[in-house]
Amino acid sequence: MSARLESLDAIEAALWRELAAAPRDRSHPWRTPVLATTDGRSGDARTVIVREADVAARTLLLYTDARSPKAAQIAAYPLGTLVLWSPALSWQLRMRARLELQTEGLAASSHWARLKLAPGAQDYLSALPPGSPLDGAVGARDERTHFALVEAQVQAVDWLELHAQGHRRACFGPDGARWLQP
Ligand SMILES: Cc1cc2nc3c(=O)[nH]c(=O)nc-3n(C[C@H](O)[C@H](O)[C@H](O)COP(=O)(O)O)c2cc1C
Repeated sequence: MSARLESLDAIEAALWRELAAAPRDRSHPWRTPVLATTDGRSGDARTVIVREADVAARTLLLYTDARSPKAAQIAAYPLGTLVLWSPALSWQLRMRARLELQTEGLAASSHWARLKLAPGAQDYLSALPPGSPLDGAVGARDERTHFALVEAQVQAVDWLELHAQGHRRACFGPDGARWLQP
């Protein structure tokens, strides 16, 4: 993006345009945000892939293994944060989101139906849960899938632009949009 966007409305529209494009662009850094969650005692964070972004609904879809530590954390503490950085835009997003783990239902089954014939399906078919110590059980395959959809309902976006002529920061949330001191 060459010219700096001036209005909060234009910035919010542009960041959601980028988020919508990211899942279809393997080179887009916003396709692989860091998702932070908590187990109630400490924070945890890991890279995930954004599979879909629904701009109108302000939701992002992620895939995970229902047995993973993050899945238990989301079930117990459904408020998480997604952190994204684009060197091309010099924009950081910190998005507070309500996270919902879905293992059943139309959305989860239709995503699994599409995924199950692809190589990526292996990620959800291991006999051992993610993070299990490997004591000779490498490669064992389960008969059933452990696929889960994570729907992230974005509630607030903290936008930070790094710029030689002055950094800018704004938040876009339930109470509207406002500029912040970076
Ligand atoms: C580029 C990249 C993309 C990843 N995408 C996903 C993903 O979409 N879903 C997922 O569950 N884990 C993904 N992972 C693995 C996670 O970062 C993490 O190692 C794993 O899910 C275990 O996390 P947990 O122990 O916090 O549950 C990805 C890792 C990398 C490096």
